[in-house]
Formats: sequence, structure tokens, C-alpha cells
Amino acid sequence: MKQTIGSILKAKNNRKLTMITAYDALFARLFDDQVDFILVGDSLNMSFAGKKDTISATLEQMIYHTNAVCAGAKNTFVICDMPFGTYTDSKTALKNAIKVFRETSADAIKIEGGKQKAHIIKDLVDNSIAVVGHIGLLPQNFRSEGGYKVKGKDDANIQSLIADAKAIEEAGAFCIVVEGVKEEAGEAIAKSVNIPIIGIGAGAKVDGQVLVWSDMFGFFDEFKPKFVRQYIDGANLVKKAVAEYKNDVESLNFPNENEKY
Ligand code: KIV
Repeated sequence: MKQTIGSILKAKNNRKLTMITAYDALFARLFDDQVDFILVGDSLNMSFAGKKDTISATLEQMIYHTNAVCAGAKNTFVICDMPFGTYTDSKTALKNAIKVFRETSADAIKIEGGKQKAHIIKDLVDNSIAVVGHIGLLPQNFRSEGGYKVKGKDDANIQSLIADAKAIEEAGAFCIVVEGVKEEAGEAIAKSVNIPIIGIGAGAKVDGQVLVWSDMFGFFDEFKPKFVRQYIDGANLVKKAVAEYKNDVESLNFPNENEKY
């Protein structure tokens, strides 16, 4: 059954929540009804579009992929990631989030950033846009921070992340993704707020987990972050199947009598 914001909030302290990314209808259909929510992450700019970071993802791209995911996952709560530069201030964020809501059937949007984004989150929520926050390691800061930097390594930073989470909760977000932090930080953040904390590389002591589908199925084989559990070796399965197909074509084994009109 499709989750609602109410059922997601109720899960806190009762059961762990599962989120997965998807970028197309084909995979979204496979994930439908199996997870609590699907995130159309701007990570698609890397694993789908082949770019080196998420920064050049556009709103049009996110709308296109969100529509595809919503078409495939009719029974799952879908979140559209707002790409870099589309929520720099309340007016811009509202214009772009309203466009996402009007042009897709996404149930919520996600934006990166802590306390400094709280006033934007409040304005979005006040205008009936459901918001997921995202704190810790922020992929959209890849260039400004010179790479992906793990957070929550000392008490001062943990306190700052807690202040971020509290500000986002106070602003009206119903859930927060916490990425790339030490487990102690993930735990402290989850204990500090009443909304679910969904971790990615944030340890086990949070309210749920999210993984990027192409990482967990081993399709993105250039780099495997430490926190990823690879459930299948997708890249090798596909490479092996393509080699078999080529061999079948060349050896006149494909198509056979049953594979012809
Ligand atoms: O873009 C994405 O896939 C994300 C996840 C890493 C949480 O934001």
C-alpha cells in the first residue's frame, strides 16, 4: 500500500524505512510496492547521464525522469530531487517546486542543506509542497568543498548537524536524508528529532536506509563507496549476457526456429 506522510512519520521508533533511487519506469515497476519510498535522485546525472558529479542536472531532466518513475511505481511514494541552483531562494524554490508538482505526480521534493535552507523549506511547506531535507555530506557541494567529505567526525560538527536537523524539522520537512556521516552522528541526529532520519553511509542507528539502485545492483562499477552493499553483480551479469548474445549471433545460434515469424 502506498505510504503517506502520516504513515512515514508513524514509522519512527516502530520500524525501519527503506528508500531506493530509480530513474526510469522499468526499474521503478520492479521496486513498486516493495519499498517505502522511491527517490528520483539527481545522482542520475552520474549513473544515468555519465557526468562526474550531480551539479549539471537540470529541472527538465528531473521532471522527465520523475514522470518515468511515477509511471512505473504507481503504488509507491515518489520523491523528486531538486537539482543544483533550483532552490537558491524562496521565490526560485517555489517556482521550481510548483513546476515539479504541476508536471509530475511526485509526492514530495528533496533539497540539500541545513539551517540556512530552513526558511526556504518553510515557504515550500506553507505552499503545500512536501519536503525531505538532506544534510551531512552534500553531493551538490562536490565542487565547492573539493570532493565528497565525510561529516560528523567531531562533537562540534555533530552539534551543528543536530542544529540543522532541528531547523529542518521546525520548518516542516517530514523526513531527512543524512548522508556520509559517522555512525555516532547519525544516531545523535536521529535521537534529536521526531521525524524519520534516512541514512546513506550514516550507520545503522538511524530510522531507515537509502541506496542508489545502480550501486546496490553493481551496475556502476567505476567506484564503490564503502557503505554500499552490492546485492547483485549487475555489470558482470550484463557483460556476460552481451558476450553470449554476440557469440550466439556469430555462431548462427540466434535466432533459432522458435525465434522467427
Ligand atoms: O541523488 C541521490 O541519489 C541522493 C541519494 C544519494 C540520497 O540524493
